[in-house]
Amino acid sequence: MSDTSRRAPKPLKTTIGDHALNPATLMMGYGFDPALSEGSLKPPIFLTSTFVFEKAADGKRFFEGITGKRPGGGTAEGLVYSRFNGPNQEILEDRLRLWEDAESALTFSSGMTAIAILFFALVRPGDVIVHSGPLYAASETIINKILSQFGIHYVDFPAGASREELDEVMARAKQKGRVALIYLESPANPTNALVDVEAVSAARAAAFGDADELPPIAIDNTFLGPLWAKPLAQGADISVYSLTKYVGGHSDLVAGALVGSRAVIDKVRMMRNVMGGICDPNTAWMLLRSLETLELRMDRAGENAIKVCEFLRDHPKVEKVGYLGFLEEGSSQADIYRRHCTGPGSTFSLYLKGGEAEAFRFLDALQIAHLAVSLGGTETLASAPAAMTHLSVPEERKQALGITPNLIRISIGIEDADDLVADFSNALDQV
Ligand SMILES: Cc1ncc(COP(=O)(O)O)c(C=O)c1O
Repeated sequence: MSDTSRRAPKPLKTTIGDHALNPATLMMGYGFDPALSEGSLKPPIFLTSTFVFEKAADGKRFFEGITGKRPGGGTAEGLVYSRFNGPNQEILEDRLRLWEDAESALTFSSGMTAIAILFFALVRPGDVIVHSGPLYAASETIINKILSQFGIHYVDFPAGASREELDEVMARAKQKGRVALIYLESPANPTNALVDVEAVSAARAAAFGDADELPPIAIDNTFLGPLWAKPLAQGADISVYSLTKYVGGHSDLVAGALVGSRAVIDKVRMMRNVMGGICDPNTAWMLLRSLETLELRMDRAGENAIKVCEFLRDHPKVEKVGYLGFLEEGSSQADIYRRHCTGPGSTFSLYLKGGEAEAFRFLDALQIAHLAVSLGGTETLASAPAAMTHLSVPEERKQALGITPNLIRISIGIEDADDLVADFSNALDQV
């Protein structure tokens, strides 16, 4: 059953007989009943701050849900007020969870809002967050600069850590306090190192198996999800998304989501009800449109990336291409990839021979690819992390992470692959 609090739509069917429907099919109608909206094929955008109750007793019952007086983790039986819920957001949440076969989902006004509210819902002073590194810079900032002001500690480990290393990390974290959350990001940006979620889950069971409640594992799945990686299947409890990237997919909105275990999502919903941060109805509607083409867009971007990376790898002015499709056979990273991923994605690192001057000449010569940060859009984007997104990272950490001046981050879009190769070839000629 769905989480919805809308007037009951027709039963939400995900099968025809024994045949399970693919999420790509369900994106066109799941969770919306046209009969409840004048027969409109598409959901209208519900621009309202508040919803009218039929009876005073309904209002009371709904508030008992929102405030947690009734079970359901802050879910009301009906629509109440647009800081808590709304039809567009609930249809979006219903559809998002289908991609990972998840129990529940919540949407937010940005990826960072989703991450911040997740942390605030789960951690208390004295607690410890165990996290993989590197993380998206703002996620690291919340942990080591903001939460640390409230007496929350952290222990980090490199993204590619082995089971033995993870056991040692868990033991060290336990000594510091109650481990409230294990927070991962895979692949890490810009190293592309994958986290072994199965190993993290096994290390958690070994370290905390006798506790009443295991610390939840949340993982930022923005780079490969929801098509190429489904970490809930490897033991994660929550998949974290910046919907701004592949899910939104057109570089025209900012939003975020958490998808996964109902027990964890319920705690976060209680916090979102209080703090706000829900995705707005207009953005939710745009995301519903984006979801209809999600698989098409990601498939095409992935196919383009293979062609572009194969061209770049053999070019004499290229030092290295950090792309998940080129992992060394037999390496532990290739092993994690085989167990966790169904495609290498379309975001990768290009290391040119030379330094900043060469990188800038390349970027300035691009004609199809746009010189901009972000990823996952229909258009190809390219940027220089050392001079842009990671400018404030201390020099030694940049070195350790391979964020060198000759590094270019590229997110491949859905243009014609031969046109993209021509663009990169021409730009390399200008270096
Ligand atoms: C991996 C990752 N997680 C989270 C975020 C934050 O998302 P948003 O910009 O939607 O807040 C980003 C943004 O670039 C990201 O790349």
